[in-house]
Amino acid sequence: MIVLAADHGGYLLKEEVKKHLDDIHVKYIDCGTFSTDSVDYPDMAKLACDKIISGEAEKGLLFCGTGVGISIAANKVKGIRACCCSDTFSAKYTRLHNDANILAMGGRVVGPGLACEMVDLFLTTEFEGGRHQKRIDKIKALEEC
Ligand code: RB5
Repeated sequence: MIVLAADHGGYLLKEEVKKHLDDIHVKYIDCGTFSTDSVDYPDMAKLACDKIISGEAEKGLLFCGTGVGISIAANKVKGIRACCCSDTFSAKYTRLHNDANILAMGGRVVGPGLACEMVDLFLTTEFEGGRHQKRIDKIKALEEC
C-alpha cells in the first residue's frame, strides 16, 4: 500500500500518476487534494506522512509545484526520508542508497511520462543496505538533535 498527497500545484500530476498506479495494480490511499483550489503543502505532507508512520502505507508519493516544499515539510517528520526527484537515476538511487520512503515530484517541473518512470523505479528498487545502513543510522541520530 502506498499513500499519495498533493497541493494544488501537484494535483494534476497526482491524478496522472494515479491512472498509472491503477494500470499496474498498485493500491494507494489518496489523501488529496482533490482540486486545483489552493491548499498548503505542509498540511498535505502531514496527512501522507501520518499514514507511513502509522504503518498504513509503506511508501509515499508527494506532489507540489516544484516537489521541493512538500519534500522539505515531509522531512521534518521523524522516520520520513523524502527525496524530491526530476530524473530516473535519482529516483532509483534514493531507494538503493538512502532507503527513501517518499518520492516527491513537481507538477510544474516534470511531465507524467517521466513521473511514472520515476514511480516505477522508486516502487521496485530495494534498499541496498551494507555500507549505506550506517549512514541511515546517522540520519536517524540527527532526528534526535
Ligand atoms: C504553490 O504555489 C507552490 O509554492 C507549491 O506548490 C510548491 O511549489 C512549493 O514548494
